[in-house]
Amino acid sequence: MSHTTPTTGDDARNAATLDESARQAGAGGDGVDHIQRAEDVVARVLARQGTALASTVDHNREQDAGALEREARAGTRRTRSGSTELEDISEVEYRQIRLERVVLVGLRTTGTQEEAEVSLRELAALAETAGSEVLDALIQRRPHPDPATFLGKGKAHDLADIVKDTGADTVIVDGELAPSQRRGLEDVVKVKVVDRTALILDIFAQHAKSREGKAQVELAQLEYLLPRLRGWGESMSRQAGGRVAGGEGIGSRGPGETKIELDRRRIRTRMAKLRQQIREMEPSRRTQRASRRKGGVPSVAIAGYTNAGKSTLLNRITGAEVLVEDALFATLDPTVRRSTTPDGRVYTLSDTVGFVRHLPTQLVEAFRSTLEEVAEADLILHVVDAAHPDPVGQVAAVHLVFDTIEGARDIPELIVLNKADLATPEQLALLRTTFPESVAVSAYTGLGIEGLQLRIQDLLPQPRVTVDLVIPYSYGALIHEAHEDGEIVSEEYVGEGTHIVARVDEALAARLKEAAVHG
Ligand code: GTP
Repeated sequence: MSHTTPTTGDDARNAATLDESARQAGAGGDGVDHIQRAEDVVARVLARQGTALASTVDHNREQDAGALEREARAGTRRTRSGSTELEDISEVEYRQIRLERVVLVGLRTTGTQEEAEVSLRELAALAETAGSEVLDALIQRRPHPDPATFLGKGKAHDLADIVKDTGADTVIVDGELAPSQRRGLEDVVKVKVVDRTALILDIFAQHAKSREGKAQVELAQLEYLLPRLRGWGESMSRQAGGRVAGGEGIGSRGPGETKIELDRRRIRTRMAKLRQQIREMEPSRRTQRASRRKGGVPSVAIAGYTNAGKSTLLNRITGAEVLVEDALFATLDPTVRRSTTPDGRVYTLSDTVGFVRHLPTQLVEAFRSTLEEVAEADLILHVVDAAHPDPVGQVAAVHLVFDTIEGARDIPELIVLNKADLATPEQLALLRTTFPESVAVSAYTGLGIEGLQLRIQDLLPQPRVTVDLVIPYSYGALIHEAHEDGEIVSEEYVGEGTHIVARVDEALAARLKEAAVHG
């Protein structure tokens, strides 16, 4: 990686100057430059914090794989829609995030250096996903957020300088901001400040595909917005590209207050309408799922942390031309595909939305449809990015969410260690020890996919066939097995033995046929 590391420690201005040249060089440039630059910013900020990435990483390896990822991303880069469903409440000073040129902000409270690194990388990736350009970042070491401005006063002013020098229009804070903190920080930095929840909501809004998905996300956005209304709009000029107009007159009362009341009412009405719509959509979803299950086609749900490679794996297994998005959260609504096991059995595969650490509670409901899909699968393929710095933490995060979905933990789960081409042998070995039943694959190169397909074949429930046979009484054990493992339709004792009609798997059916009274 060719990042530049400032030698003057914490000097924000130095960083800002570097950013300026990077900005000029990259202005109007392609997605690859753009992503590379975000990575450079992260690396540089971490180096400033004394959390340099370089020491333990095999550079060539990382560069090759990174180039692959960047290439893939650049090839499918999404055009930003920036649309929201809020036009009919346009009076609301609802700040569409429209992230353009951002500076990231993190606090390092009690965590380790590695945690700070992972956290900043994730925030940068999320910001990229939202379509923004990461210009710089700043981390403060501090036991608690400042109640007024999140960052301490001095750092907040450093941030204001960075914002000014880079020409950023948005600050993204890694964490949740109280409305007053956000307002306090905005007053200092003079551009809009958004928190992690708002960022994730924006990504979901951009990526929701189905009518239900869109309604769910809009509802979540409004829920988020409602208690924060007062802070929105008053201090902002929407025309000025999100810059705060002078920082005066904030919190002024009078007509503004009335307007906010009106907005609140409108938002509540809209939320009620959305809830109703979502309720109405539910029965049809259930019917669809029920009919799929009735057909007896086994189903596999692909789940996992965001960016683990779920869509890539789905493509690899099904060969379908599903668009692999360049960014996190490519999949908001389940996409169902068909595939066949090596022994020729058909099954469905559905992709689900990626999990994130600390998923904002408002969003859990927004993903109910995806989560239900997981709960009704016959097998869960839990895809893990084996090259991630903290895959075990990611697996734990996914399991925490599964715990909240009724029935999800009872479903067989196969852990798929993806990006085996990118992970080091040590990383893979460690993961194989932690998850002995896992399979290592590369969805990108195809490595290990045949083995994965065999495992899927083994783990899927065996198909059932109906038998109508008379079994001699001497084969009582077989009848017992049919009771245990199959489904008895009818059973009658006749002269030659037991006449049973049952649904059993193919292997047992063959043995029953063998034993049956013929003629
Ligand atoms: P969300 O839908 O955002 O949750 O992501 P996802 O889990 O579906 O990930 P996706 O398939 O979009 O892949 C994320 C990135 O990882 C893409 O840039 C892929 O090209 C890359 N990727 C996926 N699998 C592999 C792999 O086996 N090796 C390498 N090197 N890159 C991979």
